[in-house]
Amino acid sequence: MAPGTPPRHIACIMDGNGRWAQQRGLERTHGHMAALAALNAVVSGALREGVEWLTLFAFSTENWSRPEGEVSFLVDSFPGHVLEREARRLQERGVRLRLLGWDDPRIPADVTDMLHGLEELTRGNTKLQVSLAFNYGGRQDVCETVRCLAAQRFPHEEITEETFARHMKLPELPDVDLLLRTGGEHRLSNFLLWHCAYAELVFLDVLWPDFRAPHFQHALELYRQRRRRFGALGPAAGTDSPGPADADPAQPPVTGHPVEPGPVSPLKLPAAIASHLGSSLLNGVKETARFAMLQLGAASVQARRPDQR
Ligand code: IPE
Ligand code: IPE
Ligand code: MG
Repeated sequence: MAPGTPPRHIACIMDGNGRWAQQRGLERTHGHMAALAALNAVVSGALREGVEWLTLFAFSTENWSRPEGEVSFLVDSFPGHVLEREARRLQERGVRLRLLGWDDPRIPADVTDMLHGLEELTRGNTKLQVSLAFNYGGRQDVCETVRCLAAQRFPHEEITEETFARHMKLPELPDVDLLLRTGGEHRLSNFLLWHCAYAELVFLDVLWPDFRAPHFQHALELYRQRRRRFGALGPAAGTDSPGPADADPAQPPVTGHPVEPGPVSPLKLPAAIASHLGSSLLNGVKETARFAMLQLGAASVQARRPDQR
């Protein structure tokens, strides 16, 4: 990947709403309401930077275990409020909504209908795909995929990483490049376990309702400083044959993963020449040391035989 290339897929764990509200003596639900400005900031940032996919973790399969009042707010009333406010803006900005999560009898039918309706309405948009992880869990995604393959009696010898991914909840969803979590926690909380296999993890202390454009830029800056190797070696480890990190950045790497070039030697010497030069220098130093030892030896012999001077 050429330096400065934006991540193709950013996934965002929007955490810290409850603490934001509690710090202000408010009910936790006020924190969720205050999150709308942050939502707008992350979508604007992704559009501006040319990101293709933005996945937002809105409600996890584990969040059902929160107090009834908060669950009811998050599942019954909040989605309708957000969609009513944001639907037109998403459409105007060319955003395609993708649903990542499962319909559930505990989610009111009008909410499910509204989500599917917006997915349908924005189907033709191409600027940015926003996948909304609502009632989503990474382990459930894997389990449901296995169940789907088993139900189809899919031949086990044909199960590969590619065929498996093609049967997941949202098959088009690419690997995550940048996983961003706000709120100061350093964990995945069961988010996109499969897709985050090689994600760059960025954890910010800012609480989600306070997240704005500068935080987005900061996260991108941290991402750009990372050297992604995908198990290969960086160019500093130098072999004679060019590895993926030495490859022409304009060419897609063999693995399909973007690989950034690592730090370049200021002399930019091919590995074989650099290695030869290194060994010549080393031999030169060794020779000089040997010569110096001989000189010292000769001097000490002279010193022990003053009569021969
Ligand atoms: C994340 O914020 C939003 C959801 C889980 C829906 P939290 O509600 O987890 O906020 P904190 O982590 O308790 O502050
Ligand atoms: C993760 O946040 C879920 C969402 C942001 C929707 P949580 O606040 O639920 O995660 P934990 O409980 O701290 O792991
Ligand atoms: Mg939380």
